[in-house]
Amino acid sequence: MQAARIMEILNVAEAASIACAEWVGKGDKVAADQAATTAMRNAFNDIEFSGRIVIGEGERDEAPMLYIGEEVGRGGEEIDIAVDPLEGTNLCAANKPNALTTIAIAPKGALLFAPDTYMLKIAAGPACAGKVHIDHSAEQNVAAVASALGKPVSEVNVCILDRDRHKDLIAAVRAAGARVRLIDDGDVFGAIATAVPGTGIDLYMGSGGAPEGVLAAVGLKAIGGTFMGRFRFRSDDERARAEKTAEVDLDGVLTMDMLVRSDDAAFLACGVTNGEMVSGVSLADGSVTTESVVMNAQDKTVRFIKTCHRGEDGAVRFR
Ligand code: FBP
Repeated sequence: MQAARIMEILNVAEAASIACAEWVGKGDKVAADQAATTAMRNAFNDIEFSGRIVIGEGERDEAPMLYIGEEVGRGGEEIDIAVDPLEGTNLCAANKPNALTTIAIAPKGALLFAPDTYMLKIAAGPACAGKVHIDHSAEQNVAAVASALGKPVSEVNVCILDRDRHKDLIAAVRAAGARVRLIDDGDVFGAIATAVPGTGIDLYMGSGGAPEGVLAAVGLKAIGGTFMGRFRFRSDDERARAEKTAEVDLDGVLTMDMLVRSDDAAFLACGVTNGEMVSGVSLADGSVTTESVVMNAQDKTVRFIKTCHRGEDGAVRFR
C-alpha cells in the first residue's frame, strides 16, 4: 500500500485509540468498544477512497456501525478493510496490557471473509516461515522454532490464550520443554508479537476468533512471517451460516495466501493500553501521544510510529 494511504489509515487507528482511552480501566468494555468503533467509522468516512468493511463488528442487523458490507469513505480507490476497533475489550476495561485498535487493508476482493466462529491458529515470525505447521504436534512445532531461532527448546516462549479448551495444548507445550506465556485476551497481539523482536513471544498457538485470524495473517504475510488456520465451528448453526458464504473448504487448512489473496496488504495496530509491542495512549499534562505498529507488504517493513497529537489547548506537546 502507498505510504500516503497508510498514513490516512494510521490516522483512523489513532483516532479510535484516543477515543476509547478515556475508558481504560473503567470496567465498561461496551462503552470502550463503542467509542473506538464510532471514532473509527467517522475517520474512515473522511478519507477519499471507497472502503468496504469485509471483517467488522458483525452482520448489518446486529451492528449499527462498521458492519460487514458497510461502505465507508468519500469515494475513490476500492479498498477492502478488516477491523477490530478494540481488540481486547476486557483488557481495556481492566487496564491490562496489549489492548489495541486494529485495521488491515488490501485491494478489493483480497481478504477472506471469515465467518463468526473460532479458528485454530499457529503463527511465527519470518525466521520460522515454512518451518511450523498447524497439523504438527506441539512438540514438533516447538522444536522447529527452537532450531530456526538457534536457541534451546527451554527458551522458546509460546503464547496461548488462557482458556480451558487449551489445557491439553498448554500441557503439551510444557511437556516439550518450552515456556508458555498465557494471555487473558487479544490473540491478534499474540500472533503478531511473534514477528516483533522484544516481545519475548516466539510462537502463537491455539484457537480464537476467526476474524482476528485474518487480521493477524495480514500482518504476518506483509513481513514474511507465517500463519496457518483452520475453522473450528462451535455449533451446527455456525457451520450452516458459514456454508452460505464459504469461499474455501471449511475443513481445510487455511494458508496465509488463502486468507490474504494479495501481496499488497497492510496491517496497523495502535496501542490503547501499554504493552510489549506498543505503548497505550498517553493523556498526561494536556498532551496526547499514541504509538502504533504498521506492517506493509509493499516494502516489507515494520514501522513503529509515535505520534504527538494536539492537546485540548491546540498545542502539540512532545512526550
Ligand atoms: P474482544 O476484543 O472482542 O473482547 O475479543 C478478545 C479475544 O480475546 C480475541 O483476541 C480472541 O480471538 C477471542 O476474544 C477469543 O475468544 P474467547 O474469549 O471466546 O476465547
